[in-house]
Amino acid sequence: MEKKPAYPQTGVASTCRSYEEYERMFGIETDKLTGKKVLDVAGGASSFTARLCARGIDAYAADPFYAGDRQAVVALARREIETSSAKVAAMSQVYDWSYYGSPERHRRIREASLESFAVHFQSEADGERYLAASLPRLPFESDTFSLILCSHFLFLYADQFGEAFHEAALRELLRAAMPGGEIRIYPLVTLAWEPVSYLNRLLDILAADAEASFVPSGLPFVPLESSVLVLRKKTIRSER
Ligand SMILES: C[S@@+](CC[C@H](N)C(=O)[O-])C[C@H]1O[C@@H](n2cnc3c(N)ncnc32)[C@H](O)[C@@H]1O
Repeated sequence: MEKKPAYPQTGVASTCRSYEEYERMFGIETDKLTGKKVLDVAGGASSFTARLCARGIDAYAADPFYAGDRQAVVALARREIETSSAKVAAMSQVYDWSYYGSPERHRRIREASLESFAVHFQSEADGERYLAASLPRLPFESDTFSLILCSHFLFLYADQFGEAFHEAALRELLRAAMPGGEIRIYPLVTLAWEPVSYLNRLLDILAADAEASFVPSGLPFVPLESSVLVLRKKTIRSER
């Protein structure tokens, strides 16, 4: 099969997928999150946290991108829409458009998501839900979250962040999750559209603390099909 061209990216982009994209991509139902504490790690300018909070769910986001002046952060996210939309349009033939329909609609969804994020992120009451923090260290107590999501950071940037980083990051996410809580990560492919060679080795290393499974994603787009990784934190650490 012909190799699809890699997504051209230096450093990590701060994108802004919408709440609806998160719901489909991770296969989650908001109604089931009532009364739970939820964290979006590497949340970027996504509207996910804003929309969950609007539904009365106790949601937080963590990302190094949230540091500094809040208007400047929003302006940067707005510029990233320009940059990423141009890249996506230029290589549109590699993507699966069955959900988005067209590069124009893809862009409009990003713009609407950014506007919801901007209002919430800059509001006095809710702004503190966005924590400037970088994996592999998060500023949360252990055993805090029922659900932790990570969209388009872990594994996708595996060429910049290696195996040791990923092991430390997954351990940190497991520390922050409640016993019985879930971590969901998508996608599990790199920006060169390749599987991550050390994924199974990491799951094996973490097996005493987490039960791993894979579920289908409901958001077709990336050129190499990927499932969602679900890590369920064990209530009792198992001996190996
Ligand atoms: C491609 S964006 C994804 C944003 C959002 N989750 C989405 O799906 O649109 C990747 C995000 O990872 C963040 N990031 C970079 N290094 C990080 C780290 N060490 N820990 C947590 N997030 C990081 C970036 O700032 C950026 O916002």
